Amino acid sequence: MQRVSLLFVALLLLTCPGFPESGGDAWLRYARLDPGMASQYAHFPAVTVTLGHSAVLQSAQMELLRGIRGLLGRALRIDAVVPKEAAIVVGTVEQVRTLDANFGPRSDLQADAYWLISTRIKGQNVLVITGATERAVLYGAFALLRKIAEGESTAALNEVQRPSAPVRWVNQWDDLDGSIERGYAGRSIFFENRSVRPDLTRAAEYARLLASVGINGCNVSNLNADLHILDPDFIPQLARIADVFRPYGVQLGVAVNISMPKQVGGLDTFDPLDPKVAGWWKKKFNEVYLQIPDFGGVVVKADSEGQLGPSVYGRTAAEAANVIARALKPHGGIVFYRAFVYDHHLDWNNLKADRARAAYDIFHPLDRQFDDNGIVQIKYGPIDFQVREPASPLFGGLVKTNEAIEVQITQEYTGQQRHTVFLIPLWKEVLEFDMAIGGHLTPVKDIIAGQSFHRPLGGYGGVANVAMSTDWLANHLALANLYGFGRLAWNPDLTAQAIAEEWTKLTFGDEPVVVKTITTILLDSWPAYESYTGPLGLQTLTNITGPHYGPVPESQEHNGWGQWIRADHDGVGMDRTVATGTGFVGQYSPSVQRIYEPLADTPDNIVLFFHHVPYTYRLHSGKTVIQTIYDSHYEGAEKVGNFVREWKSLEGHVDDKRYEAVLAQLKYQAGHAIVWRDAVDDWFHQMSGIDDQNKRVGHHPNRVEAEAMELQGYQTFEPASWEGASGGKGVACAAESTTCSAQTKFNGVPGWYEIDIEYFDLSNGTSDFKISVNDQVVDEWRADMLLPGKEPSADSSVRHRTKGLVLRTGDVIRIEGTPDGAERAPLDYMEVLPLEH
Ligand code: GCU
Repeated sequence: MQRVSLLFVALLLLTCPGFPESGGDAWLRYARLDPGMASQYAHFPAVTVTLGHSAVLQSAQMELLRGIRGLLGRALRIDAVVPKEAAIVVGTVEQVRTLDANFGPRSDLQADAYWLISTRIKGQNVLVITGATERAVLYGAFALLRKIAEGESTAALNEVQRPSAPVRWVNQWDDLDGSIERGYAGRSIFFENRSVRPDLTRAAEYARLLASVGINGCNVSNLNADLHILDPDFIPQLARIADVFRPYGVQLGVAVNISMPKQVGGLDTFDPLDPKVAGWWKKKFNEVYLQIPDFGGVVVKADSEGQLGPSVYGRTAAEAANVIARALKPHGGIVFYRAFVYDHHLDWNNLKADRARAAYDIFHPLDRQFDDNGIVQIKYGPIDFQVREPASPLFGGLVKTNEAIEVQITQEYTGQQRHTVFLIPLWKEVLEFDMAIGGHLTPVKDIIAGQSFHRPLGGYGGVANVAMSTDWLANHLALANLYGFGRLAWNPDLTAQAIAEEWTKLTFGDEPVVVKTITTILLDSWPAYESYTGPLGLQTLTNITGPHYGPVPESQEHNGWGQWIRADHDGVGMDRTVATGTGFVGQYSPSVQRIYEPLADTPDNIVLFFHHVPYTYRLHSGKTVIQTIYDSHYEGAEKVGNFVREWKSLEGHVDDKRYEAVLAQLKYQAGHAIVWRDAVDDWFHQMSGIDDQNKRVGHHPNRVEAEAMELQGYQTFEPASWEGASGGKGVACAAESTTCSAQTKFNGVPGWYEIDIEYFDLSNGTSDFKISVNDQVVDEWRADMLLPGKEPSADSSVRHRTKGLVLRTGDVIRIEGTPDGAERAPLDYMEVLPLEH
């Protein structure tokens, strides 16, 4: 029966006209190989034999059918026994040994490791996809298809691949109402209206994507946990998610709140040391495992950002983790206890106060106290997913505790997927960083893998926040981060370049110009973003009390959140040294302290994270701090402008739909990078009072501020943060106006020009804009993007470019805005630039 239905699906696939390029298939497109490359697979087996009927093995088989059909245009035949011809054999080592008792076993085939081997069984040539577990076999199937997609030979395979670490999970911060905290691609694929979605097709597709890069678990709910996530009537709903994950070997997890026993469990306490509380958790997980036998575990955020925690009872994080760990233990579940615990009411005036210290100060003394099925989940840096941070010292501060690194695939502080930022190089810097514990080479990647200190568990947690958007993350290029996360968790030794190339080939095809161009953009994107947001270890200078998106440097300071940069009129940077600062540097091993304690030895790219220096301080580069800030922002913004040009060279080489989508994204990013550049540079200019040697900051000869134009219906306003609008001001249509205009005379020399209009696109309306030259309309557009913010600010500032205009001296350029509701067609400025050639 099963065979018949599989054959039916296989036939159905035969009739499918290829997958549309919506981005939905991500890197699993299986685009047809060109005939030259395909010819090397002329003798590829035509038959597949799957040894077993489990859902996971069926997934492996289905994937092979789908993949070979797409890549080679052939429909594999499914057989129950090894035929009298070459075949692909799919099964665990144990299953393969039922065909040939001499097959394997290899001692290195443990857990999720897979083995691809061309050999002979029953006198036939076979390509065996195997491993100790069915999940490993599935990983092997994906790996084989990846090889073919990249044109690698499969003729004489004998390859074992082992994951670096046992735990390779993604986290989703999905709320039960269907929204996603720090999600930028639409609604949840799991929840809607406080229920699990009736249709879990996307969840199943997600599990397939995850499995294809070796991810074996997914926490589906927001770690600011919903108290009802494990209510008796909700567990069966969660079981439905587990059902669609299971065929892909992805274990389900959820976030729990440690106060649940009291708040929803009917107890009068949630004290982790109270036996009633321990009993409650035990009973709760017995109930869960009855319905979800392969439930993976839970993630816990406690005593953090307003979440209740063990401190209520004077208990430790370890005691809180263990009461849950012990309830999970009999079922094989694990608890991820997050080290993101800090006081967000720190005293800004206290120069010794330092949020960066918190995780180590709290968790280091608890080393040895966590049960073996507990994992302390540590953000890569000591603050919060910033564009650059040093590796968290806590990685080296726990030697008798399982650890996982937490990274953000969702780009909360790195442009929220409206900016392309390939994060693999950032994560790799942290993973490669040598904590030098006990004078030995102890890179973070070895610590979390459990290798350095012989820990049984550990690994990776990536906050993914994919959503209903067809292309998962609402930016085709952002998917490289999800792909790269999985690949790195499997093998952190892969280079960022190798990952970028591999992903590009699978996602956009292997034409050399495509691979080279996209790989270059990806690899340049993090340095570019860092340059125009927060260089020198300043961190992302975003609006930290708002949506964490556009630039608001001032918001770092004067509040309890502790993301301070301590900028004043003389200097900038946070002194975290042992000698004169907060002592944070002392949390590292002596060798690492030697890098960060002396100002002279601290690398330029992180110097302001560790030291407070005058603006005139000369860096290793020979340049002053202030000039570096200015230049860096200009260089970063210029780089993104180049991304647009580079991407344009791919027209016709990439399908139109994705070409246009990425082009629009990069153009927007190029404009927003200028907003970043100007806001941060202007802010430091005002703060330091030091002029830019290159005379760019504050000088915009081609710019005409909207407030300086001849206005009809428009009124001048000042944004909440002055640096959010050029010149500290913009214009918006008065409440009673239905259309407004701003006009000015062109005073330049006659010639070809482009006109950039900087305007604000708010989330509460869709205004229309028109530009005319001497009453002739030359361009019009709608302000219909979905950006954070209901007020004009750097978050909502957008650049619109009109190219190829011929202008004569004295021409009247008019911008006409038609407001919509609360969005009053706000404008910032116009820039008229000679057309680039
Ligand atoms: C960031 C993020 C929050 C999130 C928190 C966490 O601060 O802005 O939305 O809850 O991290 O990781 O717990």
